[in-house]
Amino acid sequence: MSPTIAFLGATGGCANACLAYTLRSGYNAIALARTPAKLTALLLSQPGLTQDILDAHLRIIEGDARDVETVMKTLVVAADAHSTTLVSLIISGIGGTGEMVFTKPSPCEQIPMRVPTVPHISIPNPNITEQSTRALLGALARIAAERFGSFADYAAVAPRVTIISGAGIKKGVTDVPLLFRPLYAALDIPHKDKAQMERLLAEAQEKADNLLCGGVVIVRPSILGGDHKIAEAGADSGFTKLRVGTEKKPEIGYTVGRALIGEWIYREVVKGGGEKWVGEGVILTE
Ligand SMILES: NC(=O)c1ccc[n+]([C@@H]2O[C@H](COP(=O)([O-])OP(=O)(O)OC[C@H]3O[C@@H](n4cnc5c(N)ncnc54)[C@H](OP(=O)(O)O)[C@@H]3O)[C@@H](O)[C@H]2O)c1
Repeated sequence: MSPTIAFLGATGGCANACLAYTLRSGYNAIALARTPAKLTALLLSQPGLTQDILDAHLRIIEGDARDVETVMKTLVVAADAHSTTLVSLIISGIGGTGEMVFTKPSPCEQIPMRVPTVPHISIPNPNITEQSTRALLGALARIAAERFGSFADYAAVAPRVTIISGAGIKKGVTDVPLLFRPLYAALDIPHKDKAQMERLLAEAQEKADNLLCGGVVIVRPSILGGDHKIAEAGADSGFTKLRVGTEKKPEIGYTVGRALIGEWIYREVVKGGGEKWVGEGVILTE
């Protein structure tokens, strides 16, 4: 059976691009989405993807990435009383779409107006990546305990996890240009959430029963631009413009296209297996 890949957050540009390359190349995928129609519409807008391809290769699980049961359904390809087949890779682009805020309600209740504040990003759920990471770890823990005879049996097939974090998250790593530091200061809330996600993943890997023993790849893009749209098959996507750094050898850049992030994850993790990048914080910029 060919490997199946789980996607979380594939209505976001980066993960959608990765899922589109994945399906267009004939892999099977299971995607968790709050709004399946949104995911389907985005995928059908991708060059080379048809309803027939989605019908043949994609299973959509409707639900919330904070719900352990829903995440479990996304990670199990097939199961019967005797055996369980898991996805081989998990790719998560979960995040909160934010907007820049320059004002706040007046501190004086009698004055119904907004007053200037320090510019910052406001997101509907500032803890979404932490919460979805907890649910992912909870789902893996339940799968390991409920579906396998021993932890060693689970460990032999534990999926490899790739998550999208961000540049500027890791203390001591210079991956943000000097000019952009004030902008990154405004990203304090989502950055704390991403840092918490990375911390949870690191803690899980230190445990004796390491649920993430399939390996973790952390992708840290600079400021994202563009949308989910991938290149036509055979056309130049601009991939050669992408610069790839690591914590030891960072690349510093301003922005990067969402579709290029998806293409890098597709090429290196889906097609390439990701072994080379396990344990790395991969900085991607243009
Ligand atoms: N913006 C930047 O400059 C920047 C820079 C570096 C890294 N990042 C991070 O890179 C990642 C990818 O960004 P992107 O722009 O491609 O995607 P995005 O627009 O941030 O999409 C976020 C995804 O998370 C999903 N999601 C949020 N809450 C959910 C929940 N409770 N249950 C299920 N799904 C949920 C959204 O689904 P719905 O469609 O249902 O909302 C969407 O698919 C994000 O984590 C982002 O924070 C962003």
